[in-house]
Amino acid sequence: MSLDMGPNPLWQLEDLLPDLALQPGQRVLDLGSGKGATSVFLARECGATVVAADLWVSAAEATDNFVAAGVSDLVTAVNADVRSLPFADGEFDAVVSIDAFEYFGTDVHLLPTLLRVLKPGGRLAMSTPGLATDPYDGPLPDYVRELAGWEAACWHSPQWWHRHWELSGLVGNIRSRWQSGGRDDWLLWARSGGEKHGPVGADPVIRMLEQDVDEQLGFTLISATKN
Ligand SMILES: C[S@@+](CC[C@H](N)C(=O)[O-])C[C@H]1O[C@@H](n2cnc3c(N)ncnc32)[C@H](O)[C@@H]1O
Repeated sequence: MSLDMGPNPLWQLEDLLPDLALQPGQRVLDLGSGKGATSVFLARECGATVVAADLWVSAAEATDNFVAAGVSDLVTAVNADVRSLPFADGEFDAVVSIDAFEYFGTDVHLLPTLLRVLKPGGRLAMSTPGLATDPYDGPLPDYVRELAGWEAACWHSPQWWHRHWELSGLVGNIRSRWQSGGRDDWLLWARSGGEKHGPVGADPVIRMLEQDVDEQLGFTLISATKN
């Protein structure tokens, strides 16, 4: 948990892994990897060769974490913006992104830029905080508006992300879903101390999740294959 920067990234990644079907030795871009929790997991559990790319966390800080976790032979940290990735065309077998796509992925220009570094036939998979009723389709619950404010406009439903990726015409075999029990996992993680390092602290997040009795809050999981 000391490496988590968003809600329960490892539980989300575990849920996405079947969609990625990673093989040991495959080259994976962990996009928006933060302090590196998911990169450590991908190396340890899947034997993947991981490039951990992140904007806010320096490569030096992330590298220290990978050395401490004993995975520095498999994981390389890179400080980069997704809009100008310093990688070759088709360099990766898969791209995975946990709790980060909401910061950049709603821009229609993002997918073509990102897909450049993925092999044709490679898998792209991401999970992101979401609202079961898309913010563009219905009123925001008050408890969400109070905590998240304008940021909740990017907490999209699986249907929104599905259509967004479909409209690009650049990917196929799109699988999108609402994560079962996502709000409960988020609350469990927050109560266990996960949110204490976040920008607003644990208590307001816990209060928001406790008010969410009809599970509007949770996670959108989506994956697709590059054409
Ligand atoms: C909520 S944190 C999640 C980090 C990590 N995936 C985790 O779950 O612990 C979001 C991450 O997205 C990254 N990010 C935001 N905008 C980015 C961009 N334009 N390019 C690359 N990474 C970006 C930030 O640097 C940050 O570490």
